[in-house]
Amino acid sequence: MADTLTITDNRTGKQYEIPIEHGAIRAMDLRQIRTAADDFGLMTYDPAFQNTANCKSRITFIDGDKGVLLYRGYPIEQLAEHSTYLETAYLLLYGELPTAPQLQTWTKEIAQHTMLHENIKKLMEGFQYDAHPMSIFLSTVGALSTNYPDAKKIADEQARQVNIRRLIAKVPSIAAYAYRHSMGRPYIYPDNALSFPGNFLNMLFRMTEPVYQSNPVLERALDVLFILHADHEQNCSTAAMRGIGSSQADPYSSLAGAAAALYGPLHGGANEAVLRMLKEIGSISHVPDFITRVKRGEGRLMGFGHRVYKSYDPRARIIKQTADAVFEVTGRNPLLDIALELERIALEDDYFVSRKLYPNVDFYSGLIYQAMGFPVEMFPVLFAIPRTAGWLAQWDEMLRDADQKIARPRQVYIGSGPRDFVPVGQRK
Ligand code: CMC
Repeated sequence: MADTLTITDNRTGKQYEIPIEHGAIRAMDLRQIRTAADDFGLMTYDPAFQNTANCKSRITFIDGDKGVLLYRGYPIEQLAEHSTYLETAYLLLYGELPTAPQLQTWTKEIAQHTMLHENIKKLMEGFQYDAHPMSIFLSTVGALSTNYPDAKKIADEQARQVNIRRLIAKVPSIAAYAYRHSMGRPYIYPDNALSFPGNFLNMLFRMTEPVYQSNPVLERALDVLFILHADHEQNCSTAAMRGIGSSQADPYSSLAGAAAALYGPLHGGANEAVLRMLKEIGSISHVPDFITRVKRGEGRLMGFGHRVYKSYDPRARIIKQTADAVFEVTGRNPLLDIALELERIALEDDYFVSRKLYPNVDFYSGLIYQAMGFPVEMFPVLFAIPRTAGWLAQWDEMLRDADQKIARPRQVYIGSGPRDFVPVGQRK
């Protein structure tokens, strides 16, 4: 029997056979269901896209009930153990793990693009001393499009590939300059002899020493965090990247929009919000009272819950292990005990259990970032650096997808019917 859905319209008695493919029906197939000649056809109403697939994708798979996350089929746990961020970025973009020569070329190509044009440096100097680094980051990424007019040629494969490399290479430089700007410290140029995370740490933290040497444990922890944050299928910022990119905007402008979506506290800004929450709670003894307030609806337990995961976020599990290694070097973050107590109580409490609210990737990542010396304002920026690979992989996949057109949702209009204009003097 064919895989179809039979719909009976009770108003007309008509029956419709709608094909089911990959567990989905095409919303456009519902258009044939109409009651009058001028009827537009049936739409679906789905605020926040809770049950609408916007694309077919081969990049990232999530099983939210089982807590599974795969990049191009590879389990996140294996990538976090064996891969590097740069190798994972290649995997996300090109579908396969690189061979040794491919990885060497890729690493070299990224290193070639780490520098920022001096006029971008000057632009960044113009920001207010206390500007939020995420605002600086997303503004500067957008401004980069002024330097690379070839980025507009989105149908030109070569231009697309070079701009993908530029973006992956330059986001750590922008992030580091945003940080140095807020500290009033001179910008540090990239050192391409260092690894991707090693160079980033150099641009952030080098002072007077001629060559910066990062702690290998912290460098690896940062790389693991980058792997974990590199992609997460159709989340809010990726949907923004695809949505903006669908109008054929250049990748810098699209990525600035994606970064803006990431900035919000319900998305990439959650790691910053978690730290502020833990500080506000202040001590383990205040945890039960805080949980009671959350249950009364007076705020959320930040770093908990997810639209897709209805079990423990696999990234949070890996981050918890990474935290142990980091704290051995930096000393234990005193807020960790509050976080552990929050998790313990929440995982036993019916409010959280019945709603399937578990720690997500942001619950523990901020504790690591803080122990490594990052101010909380930098946390969303640290999310945006690796997510750049995911945004670009999704953008590139969209451009190659013959099913895609400019993103343009419909609406259910519930406003006023036609009425005549009233001159201002006659309005009541
Ligand atoms: N604390 C307390 N209650 C919560 C929370 C929370 N963190 N998250 C969801 N709920 C409750 C919510 O009040 C609702 O209860 P009820 O059914 O009684 O109204 C129920 O759980 C379902 O919540 P929802 O808001 O309908 O779920 P959603 O899928 O729209 O939201 C979410 C997902 C991540 C925005 C939400 O869980 C949240 O606000 N979490 C805190 C912010 C956070 O940690 N965000 C990072 C997400 S992971 C990183 C990323 O991908 O950006």
